[in-house]
Amino acid sequence: MNFTKRTHTCGQLRKEHVGQTVTLNGWVDGRRDLGGMIFIDLRDRYGLSQVVFAPQHNAGVHEKAHDLRSEYVLSITGTVQPRPDGMTNVEMPTGEIEVVVDSFEIVTASEIPPFEIEDDVDANEDLRLKYRYLDLRRPVLQKNLLLRHRVYQIVHRYFDEQDFIEVETPVLMKSTPEGARDYLVPSRVHEGKFYALPQSPQTYKQLLMVSGFDRYMQIVKCFRDEDLRADRQPEFTQIDVEMSFVTAEDIYRLIEGLAQRILKETIGVDLALPIPRLDYFEALERYGSDKPDLRFGMELVTLNATLAATDFKVFSGALEADGIISGINVHGRAEEFSRKKLDDLTERARALGMGGLVWMKASEGTLQSPVAKFLSEELLAGVRTAMQAADGDLILIVADARRRKALEALGTLRLELARELGLIDRSAHRLLWVTDFPLFQWDEEEQRFYAEHHPFTSPRTSDLPLLDTDPAAARADCYDLVWNGSEVGSGSIRIHDGDLQSKIFSVLGLSQEEIDEKFGFLINAFRYGAPPHGGVALGLDRIITILAGLSSIRDVVAFPKTNSALSLMDGSPSPASEAQLKELHIEVRK
Ligand code: AMO
Ligand code: AMP
Repeated sequence: MNFTKRTHTCGQLRKEHVGQTVTLNGWVDGRRDLGGMIFIDLRDRYGLSQVVFAPQHNAGVHEKAHDLRSEYVLSITGTVQPRPDGMTNVEMPTGEIEVVVDSFEIVTASEIPPFEIEDDVDANEDLRLKYRYLDLRRPVLQKNLLLRHRVYQIVHRYFDEQDFIEVETPVLMKSTPEGARDYLVPSRVHEGKFYALPQSPQTYKQLLMVSGFDRYMQIVKCFRDEDLRADRQPEFTQIDVEMSFVTAEDIYRLIEGLAQRILKETIGVDLALPIPRLDYFEALERYGSDKPDLRFGMELVTLNATLAATDFKVFSGALEADGIISGINVHGRAEEFSRKKLDDLTERARALGMGGLVWMKASEGTLQSPVAKFLSEELLAGVRTAMQAADGDLILIVADARRRKALEALGTLRLELARELGLIDRSAHRLLWVTDFPLFQWDEEEQRFYAEHHPFTSPRTSDLPLLDTDPAAARADCYDLVWNGSEVGSGSIRIHDGDLQSKIFSVLGLSQEEIDEKFGFLINAFRYGAPPHGGVALGLDRIITILAGLSSIRDVVAFPKTNSALSLMDGSPSPASEAQLKELHIEVRK
């Protein structure tokens, strides 16, 4: 459709338009005065066009063009002509032509922007966030939001084809636990009462299953008051999905088809299916993480059996305490690690809660290490074999009574070393499912269980008896989708039986009154013919970040918050007026 104020966009004109009279609207991307002529690039979201103000063509227009500055909004009318020989710009889609101006209007002037509107901007992020509307003029950010738009369309089309229906769920709701703090909204009408913003629509989507909707999806905003990081925002977007009468296998196939389509239709990458799966404990043992990055090797190797006969106390202590000894092999890089670097690594292991770090350098057929003197030649040979070490390799080993903690510490070192040594193939896309997490996690400090995923997750059927005997050993019928080491999705088969749901809440330490007060509505709903159901939610912002090859989630969100949850542009959060607070029955104590 052509609208009235312009004939073409700034990215549209080609050789075939030569001779035509056109009208373009856009922003001044920069002005060059050359040989008596004035050149500007006119920019809109479709691209750039070179626009020429030539005195011999129109003296009045040329004179007036001296007033033009960066970011002025112009409407120009002119004639498309080929660029002179040798002046074509192959980098620019419109690089074969230019528009010689017949007349133009300064639609709006601009103050000097606080930073240059260009991809390689050097302004710091806080300044860019303050002027986010200018930052968003930069082509890279426009590209990211366009990619995001593409993904919305692919997602909607995919689920529509599979008979899903999109249903909007409330934003003012009763609190649903997803492990973060709630954002609360005070009620004016009901003194002292609060809505919570959804951490996810988890309970609603389950209730929609009870209502018989069978296949639900929604692209939905979620809100969590938690510690922020490069991959976390206080408000973020989920592709939320729920289905009735399904097994985990059905969910895998559904989401794998979606991931394949997104990769193909956005960045042209072919994803081989099925996506591999790893049991949670195996993921932890081989990668020291529940979201392993498979783009490089350096897998963890458990050395408990290899070192069973040692009396070196660091190792034997861990073994006696039923702990773990685990190592990684940094292949061929031993020479790059000086004594100082190894001391630094040891410090890093300590900062991760380990007692220290054993390093060994493979050379001359054996292993050199400050602790070699505590180990027999036979044990050293065993470690060499288990670690598949060749001369020139560096082996790093941790030992600790706390299995999970030790494996996670080594997993962190694995990841950091891979980044520092450039071992990660940045063009690769490696996805996997991590499955069968423990149902509960024990909190030592509070002496209580937490749901590892969320309390609506079904235990594996075979583990149901463990709820009475050994809840810590029970595993969940759940799965995380991991993409290049980032958790991009999470889901489970749900509990659809009120009694079982109550039982889980009581293992979590809720009293009957608390269960009734907080979750009575859900348990009640299960009394009226609840279908078995399950689902998943994908973190849309994280997926876009990976597709765009970026490291910060803020670059794919139009108006993001800082790591301290501030919006630097509009200054939120901000104080409320006395009158507002009074109406809400709230008093702020400093
Ligand atoms: P979960 O809490 O794992 O599951 O969230 C699902 C996915 O959402 C993304 N995500 C985030 N992205 C950006 N910023 C955040 N603060 C943030 N928090 C989570 C992650 C995560 O994998 N209701 C369940 C899903 C279900 O069981 O169906 C849920 O919300 O990519
Ligand atoms: P120490 O007995 O504390 O002098 O430690 C001897 C060596 O073992 C040092 O190189 C320590 O860094 C290392 N070390 C100590 N505790 C651990 C541990 N839990 N895991 C791995 N190495 C350790």
